[in-house]
Amino acid sequence: MSTSKERYTGHQRIETSNLLMIVLVLVTVFIGGFVEIVPLFFQRSTTQPAPGLKPYTALQVAGRDIYVREGCYNCHSQMVRPLLAETLRYGEYSKAGEFVYDRPFQWGSKRTGPDLHRVGGKYSDDWHRLHLNNPRDLVPESNMPAYPWLATTPVDAAGLPARMSALRTLGAPYSDAEIQDAPKAAAGKTEMDALVAYLQVLGTAGKGAPRGNQ
Ligand code: HEC
Repeated sequence: MSTSKERYTGHQRIETSNLLMIVLVLVTVFIGGFVEIVPLFFQRSTTQPAPGLKPYTALQVAGRDIYVREGCYNCHSQMVRPLLAETLRYGEYSKAGEFVYDRPFQWGSKRTGPDLHRVGGKYSDDWHRLHLNNPRDLVPESNMPAYPWLATTPVDAAGLPARMSALRTLGAPYSDAEIQDAPKAAAGKTEMDALVAYLQVLGTAGKGAPRGNQ
């Protein structure tokens, strides 16, 4: 028979002491996190570019900044998970190596609209222009906002070299010439041109990657 005077031993001791339980849970989570997360910092498949992946061109960099500025990530994720329902709908699941030039990455966690990681090449440029100008012209039930001003706003071409230099510091292999010529490459383009150029390259490097090719 147990009495209140009985000394707890082993597991009972842990389960009846809040402090001990908290400390040991933290130690366990720390070890688990360490073992799972730290190796990824050094694994080639997560740190090296996926085969065929190129850093964004000047115009695509501008488009990506517009994507972030307009908050497209609030409704769109950019990460196809390795689940059958997702690969049937969106295509090949996303690999870590496809995002090495994405700083910051746009994986997102909200899908009011569809995932966009494999949207590159899915539609024509004209489809995107019409859709961004007013989504309801193409998808009557859409609740995506319209972005008509993009077609009449020029790209901030002069600001591109500074942005690309910053990306080079973080690892994107741009040449001096690419950075210097960035304003020329984006001259005369609208924000719509830039955003569409960005959308059209999304996920194209890893589109046909064989399964399990990390
Ligand atoms: C309020 C949520 C919302 C925001 C913000 C939003 N979208 Fe959407 N988007 C949707 C919904 C819902 C759909 C599906 C209906 C449709 O095609 O319009 C969609 C569809 C799309 C599609 C077609 C995807 C496909 O595979 O058919 C593209 C491309 C797209 N959005 C790009 C963008 C871009 C770029 C931005 C930012 C400029 C943006 N969206 C902002 C909700 C949103």
